Amino acid sequence: PAAVIVAIDGPSGTGKSSTSKAVAAQLGLRYLDTGAQYRAITWWMLNNGVDVSDPERIAAQADRPVIVSGTDPQAPAISVDGADAAGPIRTQEVTSAVSAVSAVPQVRARITELQRSIAAEARGGIVVEGRDIGTTVLPDADLKVFLTASPEARAARRSGELKGKDATGLAATQQALTERDKADSSRKTSPLKKADDAVEVDTTELTLEQVVECVVTLVEKAS
Ligand code: C5P
Repeated sequence: PAAVIVAIDGPSGTGKSSTSKAVAAQLGLRYLDTGAQYRAITWWMLNNGVDVSDPERIAAQADRPVIVSGTDPQAPAISVDGADAAGPIRTQEVTSAVSAVSAVPQVRARITELQRSIAAEARGGIVVEGRDIGTTVLPDADLKVFLTASPEARAARRSGELKGKDATGLAATQQALTERDKADSSRKTSPLKKADDAVEVDTTELTLEQVVECVVTLVEKAS
């Protein structure tokens, strides 16, 4: 097909974002970070005084924030109600609340619809990364990849990003990651799960360049 659609899912710290951006840039495709959209809606809830421990309150407000995603793999952008959200969505506060907000069915329905329309409009094709892209958002994707890595490798990568490389920092990061993945995998609506027809790539022993090369080869075979 002319417009290839690639779904990349997996838990946090497996290199999903770096891989997806690099694959899209290399192949001239658009790129969508769906985690950023869930973070953006979470940021809005926190800013607007919504009690994020109350799913009914979240559901009641789910349609209000206006979320706009840019799809340039070199400079992915996200805004909420016209305000640049790229920085604020990466705070610890948002990271701690995002799993609870993204478990609410009304939030997922809304964001899923947005993701499908962005993918449909991406003329030259798109790489979409997240947790439920291959299973729910784009079940007809041309290629589905599920990235995994050992818990140690994932925590080490995240800590490297956070520059907190001491043993305590590493243990705390690993704990927070494990909890978020447990919440994401066990929620009722559209949990983190490998699609039956996804190709699983274990990145534990691979460099970013090797993972990118592997996925690029898979895309070329699939398109
Ligand atoms: O990818 P990232 O770690 O930024 O995602 C943040 C959170 O957004 C995840 O922990 C998960 O709760 C939610 N998410 C989701 N479905 C997606 C992408 C992200 O529920 N497709």
